[in-house]
Amino acid sequence: MVKARKYVVTKIFQGQPKRSDYELVEEELPPLKDGEVLVKAEWISVDPYLRAYNRESPTPYDQFGFQVGVVQESKDPKYPVGSRVVSHKGWRDYVILNMSAPFPNPATRHYKLPDIGNLSPSLAVGAVGMPGATAYISFFEIGKPKAGETVVVTGAAGAVGSLVGQIAKIKGCNVIGFTGSDKKAQSLKEELGFDAAYNYRTVDVRKVLKEAAPNGVDIYFDNVGGEISSTIMYQMNNKGRVIVVGSISAYDSDPSDLPKVTILQPAILFKGLKVEAFLIWNSSQDEWNKAFADIVKWIQSGQLKAKEHISEGFDNIFDVYIGMLTGDNYGKAVIRV
Ligand SMILES: NC(=O)c1ccc[n+]([C@@H]2O[C@H](COP(=O)([O-])OP(=O)(O)OC[C@H]3O[C@@H](n4cnc5c(N)ncnc54)[C@H](OP(=O)(O)O)[C@@H]3O)[C@@H](O)[C@H]2O)c1
Repeated sequence: MVKARKYVVTKIFQGQPKRSDYELVEEELPPLKDGEVLVKAEWISVDPYLRAYNRESPTPYDQFGFQVGVVQESKDPKYPVGSRVVSHKGWRDYVILNMSAPFPNPATRHYKLPDIGNLSPSLAVGAVGMPGATAYISFFEIGKPKAGETVVVTGAAGAVGSLVGQIAKIKGCNVIGFTGSDKKAQSLKEELGFDAAYNYRTVDVRKVLKEAAPNGVDIYFDNVGGEISSTIMYQMNNKGRVIVVGSISAYDSDPSDLPKVTILQPAILFKGLKVEAFLIWNSSQDEWNKAFADIVKWIQSGQLKAKEHISEGFDNIFDVYIGMLTGDNYGKAVIRV
């Protein structure tokens, strides 16, 4: 009999999530049925959408999220002991999966670890997982980048943003990033090849953007929302494209009292901007796999760096989660358990 531990969310978060909004629960797992596998988590992901979707998930609920695990026992010959799988079973150490069962919805997908050669399996929750698929699919589908165009990325040092900026460089764009510390901004330029990067907490965004993009911005990859997005959108060129991927600046806000920002409609109207939202749950596994194939190729050829912010220990997941929400991470925040 295997005992599993899992984090259960017991409350709707008020502002930043608290440890007391979670309970650590133990449960005994039943014996495997035919077609099932017992998986031990190896890497667990913490992501901003865990915060964003809290209000829409009736409590109590098991904390969902992506994890990579290793098959410990198998009654499915396609997934022998020792093979690795990716699932959306979240913050738990052991889980029973039926890998052949259809996903009830795309957010519950589970699949064999993609072919990543000798790269770390942790990438399957990062550059070769949901964040990588998000960066790649949204940037090409909505951004339609052309060489020589100027791309601005907010949340630029995070899991998604650090990939988007590098993919834009691979495609020959001029790339400007905004992030929350001088150290991260410096590293975006020196290590990841961004043309310019700034700490949005300390600079005058309007002014530095005028200097870094004197001819205007063609594509804005919006990871954060809020006032910085309004400022950037007023510096876009005609027919610019805005890829709305996240609004983390407002995730802790009370939905009935959201932060006020500069009105955007004049920028959208008079510049003919295309502002389009992207939700990764609407894309197919085939689209994910196409993204993974290119991303793995770029990592292996040295064109793209998959930055990770690695922490250790099942008991530390909550702290790492809060650290990620407040900007401790450079690259994908992931926990080895
Ligand atoms: N639409 C989709 O399908 C989809 C899929 C994946 C992710 N997303 C969204 O994409 C965004 C990035 O996700 P990720 O997984 O790559 O996370 P991440 O960027 O690795 O981590 C979150 C980062 O957000 C930044 N941040 C926190 N509060 C902020 C604020 N008030 N203003 C500006 N930045 C703030 C912090 O970095 P700093 O130090 O720079 O502040 C932090 O490191 C999130 O908004 C997420 O919800 C959307």
